[in-house]
Formats: sequence, structure tokens, C-alpha cells
Amino acid sequence: MSKKPVIVFEGIECSGKSYHINNVSRYLKKNKIDHIKIREPGGSDNSEKIRKLILSNKSSFNKETDLLLYLAARSENVNLLKKHYKKKIILIDRFVDSTIAYQHYGLGINLELIKSVNNHLLKKFNVDFTFLNIVSKKNMIKRLKLRKSLNRYDKFNNKFYENVQKGFIKLAKTKIRKYKIINSNLDRSYNKFLVLDKMNKLI
Ligand code: TMP
Repeated sequence: MSKKPVIVFEGIECSGKSYHINNVSRYLKKNKIDHIKIREPGGSDNSEKIRKLILSNKSSFNKETDLLLYLAARSENVNLLKKHYKKKIILIDRFVDSTIAYQHYGLGINLELIKSVNNHLLKKFNVDFTFLNIVSKKNMIKRLKLRKSLNRYDKFNNKFYENVQKGFIKLAKTKIRKYKIINSNLDRSYNKFLVLDKMNKLI
């Protein structure tokens, strides 16, 4: 494994991925370990602009347009990612797996199309490790209700999120040694320990 790995946090809504990436980033900062943290869609200034457009409740794009916008947001992060690749630890809140899970497994868009554009954009930029956070339908619904505001992608039906999560798990199973599945239905502090313990082995 590279000394400066690329580590991705994935999962459906309310699965705890943002909590863990923020906690890891805080831990690295506290220990003066240089890293960058970005989210997708978002990250670079241009990608954040595209994020606003995709997730706005005022938008009503079709699924192909959404795919192209998610990929456009990624394209706007490529320079930033390549600049730091292998030089700094890179933490990413959602990446390629989210596009496959949401746009292919959730919305039925052709998988080869998604893979082909991602390969074109990313070339030799590789993810070293992924924390896949999973959550039960019951807990997802409960946690979504606690959110102050919901964006356009927080409003699909439960079956959609079930398909997306199954898609994520399928991806994890293809390269299981490069994934750790975090069951966010379990105690948060226990999971926090699991993630930090694995992080320490990765860096
Ligand atoms: P979040 O990162 O704040 O959870 O919200 C981003 C939303 O965008 C989330 O519902 C997942 C969705 N998404 C896709 O559908 N495809 C993608 O490629 C990415 C990166 C995110």
C-alpha cells in the first residue's frame, strides 16, 4: 500500500460516512499528519458550484443529465486530486462507487458508460481503501426524519436506497480486501474505534 493512500468513505444517506471522514480528518490534524479532505460532488470551487445545481430542490434534471453533472463535478476535481496523489493522504467523501451504486444500481444507467468516463477522467488515479458504511432501512428512515433540510437526492423511495446499498455491497465484495464494511446500526464509538484502528494500519 502507498505511504500516502487515497481513502474513500461510501454509503447511502444517514449511513454515517460523513461522521467518520470528519472524525478521521480531526484525528490526523491532531496528530499533525498532512492530508486533504474533499467531498463529491463538491471539493474544488467549480465542483461545489455543480453540487449546488445537482442537489437543489429547484432542479429537475433527468437521470442522464444528473450522471453527466456528477461526472462533470468529478472532472473539476481531477487537477486537485492529481496534484496531491501519493504526496498527501487523500480522504474522499463519496467517489466512483457512488456513481455506480446510485446511477447504475439505483437508476439503471449503463455500467460500461459510467466506467468508461471514469477511466477517461481518472486514468491512473487509484483508490487504496474504502470504508463502506451500511445502515438498515429502519434507521435510515429514522435518521432522515431528523435532518433539518432534505436535498433532491434525499427524497427517493426506500426501495431505491435498498438497491443502491445492495450495489455498494456488491462492489465491496469484488475486492473485499480493499474494503471495510462498517455497520452503522451498531454503537458509534465502537465503529469510530474500528475506523481509526484501520486508518492507523493504512498510513
Ligand atoms: P451527500 O454526499 O451529502 O450525502 O449527498 C450527495 C448525493 O449525491 C447523495 O445522494 C449521493 C449522490 N451521488 C450520486 O448520485 N452519484 C455520484 O456520483 C455522487 C458522487 C453522489
